[in-house]
Amino acid sequence: MPIGSRRGWEMPEAVATPEAVFRDRRALLRAMGMGGLIAATGAGALGLAGCDAGPVSYEDDPSAALYPVTRNTRFALDRAVTDEMQVTTYNNFYEFGSHKSIYRAAQALKLRPWALRIDGLVETPRTVGIDELLKAMTLEERLYRHRCVEAWSMAVPWTGFPLRALVDHARPLGSAKYVVMRTFMDPETAKGQKQGWYPWPYTEALTMAEATNELAFIATGLYGKPILKQNGAPLRLVVPWKYGFKSVKSIVHLTFAETRPKTFWEEIQPREYGFWANVNPAVPHPRWSQATERVLGGDGRVKTQLFNGYADHVADLYRGMEGERLYA
Ligand code: MTE
Repeated sequence: MPIGSRRGWEMPEAVATPEAVFRDRRALLRAMGMGGLIAATGAGALGLAGCDAGPVSYEDDPSAALYPVTRNTRFALDRAVTDEMQVTTYNNFYEFGSHKSIYRAAQALKLRPWALRIDGLVETPRTVGIDELLKAMTLEERLYRHRCVEAWSMAVPWTGFPLRALVDHARPLGSAKYVVMRTFMDPETAKGQKQGWYPWPYTEALTMAEATNELAFIATGLYGKPILKQNGAPLRLVVPWKYGFKSVKSIVHLTFAETRPKTFWEEIQPREYGFWANVNPAVPHPRWSQATERVLGGDGRVKTQLFNGYADHVADLYRGMEGERLYA
């Protein structure tokens, strides 16, 4: 998010890799006896790209054996999957800094123990450990476009489960209107949280209808492996029809509410980053156009699509809400 920092499109690009190619690279590395290196570095394509992979690691992730899983082919892409190196080294995670190379600093995050607190308007508030939760959910892979409000985009193979499954698991009361999700709070680990002018912890929310839409997804994996820390391990929201800032990372708290909370970026700059944040090429950000996007690793810019191309799935959610600022 461009608050006095370098904008997304000022960053250098590497070459995009169609998905078949990155899968072949993995197979090639395994055949060369480098599978251990992949597992140890989480780098996948990084080594072959000749770049400094940096401290990108899985640690000893106890969930590693759960991956890869079967892809749900109902969610097709209109473009190549973005190179794994791009997706895992070009990130926004303000808890670890306001630049795009936070993947190094994010390695400080400890993934175990990790628990999700579920409370608010639910039958029974409770706390569930990440490994228990992973066992209770059926994992699938989905290919989704990801469009940042900064006008860059990626195409990402997420693994995880529908948010709807987690909502069912939580057993909310009929009075719940919003699902609110929060990132961990630990300024000693995530030094960005020492910057008191940000309204930590990072908070996002969806209406119940949005949260139970079939597209809303909780990612626990990426490129057929556990999701990396810089991408929001171990639990990260993915709502591909909205600008990327809605997709809150490293969630520890899920609460059901009757009133709409102020979300992180809305609290900082409501005119620029509103609650709904649905992708719309016809509604410019106050400081730049949203008509096109730079596909990371691609050749130049492509036209942005209404709801990021997912109108068939979500347009109905917003019928009769024309009075709301749905697209900013
Ligand atoms: N979640 C937290 N907790 N902190 C953040 O800074 N950045 C958001 C979103 N989720 C952010 C976050 C923004 S602006 C974007 S574009 C996406 O994460 C970036 O996800 P990626 O780094 O996996 O591409």
